[in-house]
Amino acid sequence: MIQKPKGTYDVYGEYGKKIKYVEELLEVLMEKYNYEYFRTPIFESSNLYHRGVGETTDIVTKETYDFKDRGDRNMTLRPEGTAGIVRSYIENKLYGNTSLVKAWYYGPNYRYERPQSGRFREFYQFGCEVFGSDDATVDAEVISIPVMLFKLLGLKGIKVNINSLGDKESRDNYHNALIEYFKPHINELCDDCKERFLKNPLRILDCKVDRESEILKNAPKITDYLNEESKKKFENLQKYLKALNIDYVVDPNLVRGLDYYTHTVFEVEANVEGFGSQNVLCGGGRYDNLVEHLGGPSTCGVGFALGMERLLTALEYEKVPMPIHNHIDCYVIPMDESVKDYAFNLCMNLRLNGYTVEFDYNNRNLKNNFKQADKLNANFVIIIGTEEKETDIISIKNNHTKESYKINKEELIDFLDENLEECDCD
Ligand code: HAM
Repeated sequence: MIQKPKGTYDVYGEYGKKIKYVEELLEVLMEKYNYEYFRTPIFESSNLYHRGVGETTDIVTKETYDFKDRGDRNMTLRPEGTAGIVRSYIENKLYGNTSLVKAWYYGPNYRYERPQSGRFREFYQFGCEVFGSDDATVDAEVISIPVMLFKLLGLKGIKVNINSLGDKESRDNYHNALIEYFKPHINELCDDCKERFLKNPLRILDCKVDRESEILKNAPKITDYLNEESKKKFENLQKYLKALNIDYVVDPNLVRGLDYYTHTVFEVEANVEGFGSQNVLCGGGRYDNLVEHLGGPSTCGVGFALGMERLLTALEYEKVPMPIHNHIDCYVIPMDESVKDYAFNLCMNLRLNGYTVEFDYNNRNLKNNFKQADKLNANFVIIIGTEEKETDIISIKNNHTKESYKINKEELIDFLDENLEECDCD
């Protein structure tokens, strides 16, 4: 039997309904925030991710799905959304149209990671990127989006961690301090960290192997190396987060696993006992050099991405109820083959009028049809026999009260409009 690839999953049933509910909420939320929907290819030229995400990141060194297409081009399956959105921003010259572009996106990403709970090889991200403003209100707005989403969903156990990586001068000073600090400890670190020490010592702080070691815990903190301008920006961010009543914690060890960040970085984690190690629901930050680095004009940017699977796990973990539609409006039963065409046509017409309607395709007997109507949680059952077909007077039964009605076909929509409102739908 052919099985799904390791680290992937199928969506169907209740889980699919939950995903759809969250997706619909995302759309509404993004409309309120006035973000524009973007969709970029699932594969891009490998160079984009090497240059965009960073040569020393785990994503690029260990996790990308790389392949050569039939034209011998090096391609990579999208491991994250930001690089592609930046490429699109530059390629479509969106910097020319308006000073600010606020983008949102949603789609699958691919990373060859060791699969475990909350970590997949194919996973879905919802994300936002804003180009063209370095004002800290934009950073605060971006952080407010997942916070608002969690609030709308009813997810309570969350913690917002923020930090600043400062500007280039601050990071250069910090870089030197890290080299000085790690030099005497280099042999105590894992092999990857030895490599990171030479190429990008900041990445050591993000190491999954050495994370708990005292050496990492006692490493210098970036917050002690921020210059005045960077400090001011960080203070402003905190002022605006307070204005939005967003509780946060400054975590000086938060550096994030991608190379493009400047100034603000943040993560929101599920803060519930026993949730598991993959508790970061979303993360992001500012990347004021990335557009230029990828060949565009100097433009600042800030954004975040949220893992859909982790969000759903958090919702399940907290047992947050979701208003999932578990009913249909009508179930249509043709009594025999001779009326099936008439009943089928009625069913389609009701759907065209906006009702959720199911049909007995399988010529069940009446008893089984009523069982089926109950299983589908139908509010009304419509039974079509020869008489109904000849007279256009429809037999319809309220499946809750069991009351039966005879309604002229012309008046069926009005009848349903009036009566469905009274039904206890879920
Ligand atoms: P990231 O931290 O790599 O950031 O991923 C963002 C979120 O995607 C994570 O917090 C997590 O919820 C989810 N995620 C990542 N990897 C996996 C995985 N293997 N399985 C399940 N979920 C996963 C970025 O991707 C940046 N592009 C975020 C960003 C946007 N920064 C600025 N703009």
